[in-house]
Amino acid sequence: MLPPAKSTLAAETDALFNFINVASLIFLVGITIAIIYFSWKYRRRSDQDVTPVIAHNSKLEITWSVIPLVLVLIVFGRGFTGYIDNITPPDDAYEIRAVGKTWLWEFHYPNGHVSINELHVPAGRPVKLVMSSDDVIHSLYIPDFRVKMDVLPNRYTQLWFEAIEPGESTIFCAEYCGTAHSNMIATTYVYEEEEFVTWLASAGSADDSMDPVELGQELITRNACATCHSSDGTDLIGPTFQGLWQSEVVMQDGETVIADENYLRESILEPNARIVDGYDPVMPTFAGTLNDRQIEAIIEYIKTLE
Ligand code: CUA
Repeated sequence: MLPPAKSTLAAETDALFNFINVASLIFLVGITIAIIYFSWKYRRRSDQDVTPVIAHNSKLEITWSVIPLVLVLIVFGRGFTGYIDNITPPDDAYEIRAVGKTWLWEFHYPNGHVSINELHVPAGRPVKLVMSSDDVIHSLYIPDFRVKMDVLPNRYTQLWFEAIEPGESTIFCAEYCGTAHSNMIATTYVYEEEEFVTWLASAGSADDSMDPVELGQELITRNACATCHSSDGTDLIGPTFQGLWQSEVVMQDGETVIADENYLRESILEPNARIVDGYDPVMPTFAGTLNDRQIEAIIEYIKTLE
């Protein structure tokens, strides 16, 4: 019924969830049976038309007050301690910055590496995400880890988890944030500690040896550009890349711009400087995410899409 429990916090969360469900089920069945039984027992009968007057029954009333009280206190106590565990990252937690943008997730590692829509973490070690949004409210949700926290503009929020073993888990955005909210999906890759160290050390260095066009195509996927921009002429949230190079682009204010290197570069770094007629100003900036070589590679790739 529940997704696999892949973090150290998941067991307690599931145990409390199951306790509440089982207790509710027992009461549902018990109360339903009692209603049916009493309806039958006290049905109108011709030989007995006067119902005896019952004012109260102290023993019974105390029983049906104390049992629910105890159950509710158990739920409160476990919920409270579980909540405290959930919001208090251990002091030695590995810190990763997470940024929500319309419509992608960006993760910044301590060595400066940035990955988009991919969260890489070590297993068996607490990981703390320090999160913020560049635009509207998002919410980072990893069902396998039983963690979810709102991601807000102008304020940092935190979330922590410890993945039990290597594997993959899906990250969703759990706060409606506009047109492509449902495409705001990322993957958590959990590695053994040594593998994680190796990954982090080599992350991004493969890019250096790649052909610019190939790298550009790879970056379009990796940076989730394809969520809004197609490469085959399909009109999505943003203009298509096909046939864009050296075309005349009409802006909202009627100005016409030739899609050259400068226009593409500006569109990546300052997407809201000029808005193409017929589209909304919803693209986040990639300044600080993409370096010059990467921007040039994306331009080289767009040039090939005639
Ligand atoms: Cu971001 Cu929904």
